Amino acid sequence: MGKQDKIFEEGNVSGLPFSFNQEVTEVFEDMIDRSVPGYNTTLRIIQQQAKNHCVDGTNVYDLGCSLGASTSSLLNALSGRSKIIAIDNSDSMVRSCAERFSDSIKTGQVNFLKEDISHSEIVNASIVVINFVLQFLSIKERAELMQKIYQGLVPGGILILSEKIHFDSKKRTDEISCIHHSFKAANGYSKLEISSKRDSLEGVLVTETEFQHLDRAKELGFKSSTKLMSNLNFLTYMFQK
Ligand SMILES: C[S@@+](CC[C@H](N)C(=O)[O-])C[C@H]1O[C@@H](n2cnc3c(N)ncnc32)[C@H](O)[C@@H]1O
Repeated sequence: MGKQDKIFEEGNVSGLPFSFNQEVTEVFEDMIDRSVPGYNTTLRIIQQQAKNHCVDGTNVYDLGCSLGASTSSLLNALSGRSKIIAIDNSDSMVRSCAERFSDSIKTGQVNFLKEDISHSEIVNASIVVINFVLQFLSIKERAELMQKIYQGLVPGGILILSEKIHFDSKKRTDEISCIHHSFKAANGYSKLEISSKRDSLEGVLVTETEFQHLDRAKELGFKSSTKLMSNLNFLTYMFQK
């Protein structure tokens, strides 16, 4: 585990929108663990489903890999059966992964690319993981990326998608957000830290509803959608081609 997240201890001092810069990279493990209910379970589910669905000799993608937590689950599951391609457009995240995973990079089990996933090539994939990342793309980019993923998957291939969501009713969204903020408070974040981070994410992390995600996947042609996990306003789906 890296350093403790104290970025918003004094409020959003820089006044800048949230970004995955060096400062965030250094505390990212602590930040996501204390902010996303069920995050560690998501990683275990990715490992389990990857084991079940990997097709030898295909590619496996981790899009928006951050510090490679999902990549690590994929490495554990696959033991070299497939090549893993992990992509992030944050320079500091990808540099950190290059150090952390140097052994697996040398053996050719994984390759880290510093790239905008909107421009990445996805081919011959049996598994694509996009764990809490689509929410940072514009709505147009989401549709294009999802289509590219669908086209790049082999028949029977799976997409594991985790996202923060909102609900159809504002009342429900506010209720669940309130519980989520209590979850963060119980994990040691102050009211100022919670509100400052929320403000800095305004317009950067844009949620959709569960049904918007399901409709998009259905329209693209995914033959099945399985909800793997749901915690407050965070969920994980598996879509199969
Ligand atoms: C919440 S983190 C993802 C966590 C990670 N998937 C995990 O399982 O631990 C979001 C990541 O998406 C990356 N990201 C956001 N937009 C991106 C884009 N257009 N291209 C590539 N990476 C992107 C960010 O740099 C950040 O590292």
